[in-house]
Amino acid sequence: PTHDDVDAFLTATLVGADPDGDAALAAQHAAGMPAIEVAPVNAKFLHLLARIAGARRVLEIGTLGGYSTLWLARAVPADGRVVTIEAEPANAAIARSSLERAGVADRVEILLGRGTDVLPTLDGGEPFDLVFVDADKESNTVYLDWAARLGRPGTVVVLDNVVRGGDVADAQTDDPKVRGARRGIEMLGEDPRFDATALQTLDRKGWDGVALAIVVDATASVPT
Ligand code: DHB
Ligand code: MG
Repeated sequence: PTHDDVDAFLTATLVGADPDGDAALAAQHAAGMPAIEVAPVNAKFLHLLARIAGARRVLEIGTLGGYSTLWLARAVPADGRVVTIEAEPANAAIARSSLERAGVADRVEILLGRGTDVLPTLDGGEPFDLVFVDADKESNTVYLDWAARLGRPGTVVVLDNVVRGGDVADAQTDDPKVRGARRGIEMLGEDPRFDATALQTLDRKGWDGVALAIVVDATASVPT
């Protein structure tokens, strides 16, 4: 068996039938978006993290076609909120219709624009309980900084695509996405506002990984 067989078994057994998710994926692929959305097992992982955290307010940076957004929206209570930021209006329109079809659009707010422009407008609002960073990798450190600022001690932060087929271990790389992944990991290791780890993943998208962090009270001293 291959890792694709394992992915198929895990997806069929643990994620199961998901007509709304399938329709969301079909819509975004038909619209020509790249198939870079989170794998179903990964979407379910995010969903479970949000439930474990008791998240009521979730921030997603990078909506794409709304597939991860759908799974995050399913994790918050009916009066909860998922705020998701998308730079490409055509992507946001597809995401909106997929979320409507799934019956969760009322708890999702899609904000159009680049993260660097939209994130400052969220300053001063109620803190987010979970932040999923999955946008342009070059801006990872900017987005992680906003995740800490818009969160509170205890906020869960997830950073996608931190392994990139193993390239993250190459300190000499000039691939801007890999450099962004490296800088994101380095920031999570060095910045006193975070305590973090990362896991390598092998699913239908291949070899990649996800970093998981908690926002800590940077003014308290934490033994490491
Ligand atoms: C890319 C982006 C992603 O968010 C992802 O999950 C995989 C690949 C990319 O831009 O290459
Ligand atoms: Mg991603």
